[in-house]
Amino acid sequence: MPPLLQSLIATLALAAVPLLQAAPLNATLVVEADKPGPRIDPNIYGQFVEHLGRGVHEGIWVGEGSPIPNVRGIRSDVVAALKRIKVPVIRWPGGCFAELYHWRDGIGPRDQRPRGVNAAWGDEPETNGFGSHEFMDLLEQIGAKAFLSVNLASGSTAEAQTWLHYLTDPATSGAGAERARNGHAAPYAVPYIGIGNENWGCGGNMTADYYADQYRQYLSVLRPFGTLIATDANADDYAWTETLLKRALYRHSRSTPLAWINKQPQLAMMSLHFYTFAGDDWDTKSPAVGFNETEWARSLLRTQKMDELITRHTAIMDRYDPARQVGLAVSEWGTWWSADPKRPSNLYQANTLRDAVIAGLTLNIFQDHADRVRMANLAQMANVLQALILTRGAQMIVTPTYHVFDLYQGHQGAKRVPVSVSAPGYRVDDVDLPSLSVSASLGEGGRLTLSIVNLRANDDIRIGIDLRGVAARTAQGRTVTAAAMDAHPDFDTPDALHPRPLAGLALQPQRLEVTVPAKSVNVIEINP
Ligand code: AHR
Repeated sequence: MPPLLQSLIATLALAAVPLLQAAPLNATLVVEADKPGPRIDPNIYGQFVEHLGRGVHEGIWVGEGSPIPNVRGIRSDVVAALKRIKVPVIRWPGGCFAELYHWRDGIGPRDQRPRGVNAAWGDEPETNGFGSHEFMDLLEQIGAKAFLSVNLASGSTAEAQTWLHYLTDPATSGAGAERARNGHAAPYAVPYIGIGNENWGCGGNMTADYYADQYRQYLSVLRPFGTLIATDANADDYAWTETLLKRALYRHSRSTPLAWINKQPQLAMMSLHFYTFAGDDWDTKSPAVGFNETEWARSLLRTQKMDELITRHTAIMDRYDPARQVGLAVSEWGTWWSADPKRPSNLYQANTLRDAVIAGLTLNIFQDHADRVRMANLAQMANVLQALILTRGAQMIVTPTYHVFDLYQGHQGAKRVPVSVSAPGYRVDDVDLPSLSVSASLGEGGRLTLSIVNLRANDDIRIGIDLRGVAARTAQGRTVTAAAMDAHPDFDTPDALHPRPLAGLALQPQRLEVTVPAKSVNVIEINP
């Protein structure tokens, strides 16, 4: 071929590349709104707060004398932000911190509370200024429910029992009178009680058999107080779940210790902990910002493992509890990026578009397992790991993860409906992912909520949606997206990644067409 012609062809080919890239990929969805399934428990949008870094001190608690606007020492900007997204439940005081926590250190006049160090997290000073009353006040200000984690590693059944008496007894009892003297006559509600934290690790380094027996002992003391949640299986430790259910799910006969004598479950939920980083190695996690597409893809692949974990733990639960009376509480989940070398134990990290996509993917997985997953708690609410809220002194910003929780509010309490997805796959190096994650629910008045995550870093996707069982009249969508994978808000640019309207929705009564941008979380609300 003559050189001139060759170079002309090459130039034309190069010019065509952007055109080809610009054309969106195509996908189709079938949403079966005529087949509503289980209710999506609002508690799956729950939060986790631990005394760790600035998670409590500064992130929530500034004290009554602070120049930062507060109500009884709890910062008002944080409360307003959390109320807006209807945070349903908060787990406290940890985490590993809970396994070293003694509740008496955190009651009574604040200037007389013992000052200590947080031995679970870098020996940082712990003032005990934020204790049980302050936690309950936070919940009241937000309108959320309490999930207390009791201490097995350095505590006792007696300590846990007196804590629950102190919080929940009437003021006419001795324990209730002490609470009243400390400023709160009315009993508090403690609907959820976690029996320990990671008892295979920081919570006492126990074997599954030993923990199951501990659970039975705590159960006999704490049963009257609330819904009991057994401690967390470590990710894919299926043997833990098997042993726990075998030894502790039902009451056993006196003569044959492991023969069940009835089929009333003795635990309302068992929990699971799982964190996301790029790959599966805790020692090479990926930085929070400044990562490449391979790390992006490896992080999303790891996130997707949540689906496998829930499916496999559920399969074990199904053998012991086929009626599905027992729920799964994913009481710690979220991203865990490389630590700040200057202060490794504070677990503060930037929150980027990647965190938003991971939040959307994970919430879609929880929703799709609504028949078992009855609670989940993002780690952690403020200033720690995949936080909703970041603070710098008096300044506060909400993160891309917060925006996803905001967008997903329409799913709270709605009924999950089946969706089938037909879309091309997404391959990055040796990582194979789907391009889309989709979840749908039917709420009050026939409102259909669709959450669609586009995992692809570089491609928009044009989606044709077949809407079965609805006569749609209106559709509105919002999207969280940006040009860069690691785009993130900062204290000087707080609105980066604020949700924007999703443009170009074409609606007919039983069909919707939409283009979802590359690397985005989208929620569309369709009303009859
Ligand atoms: O969320 C941080 C820590 O992660 C918690 O304290 C612990 O339970 C888990 O290992």
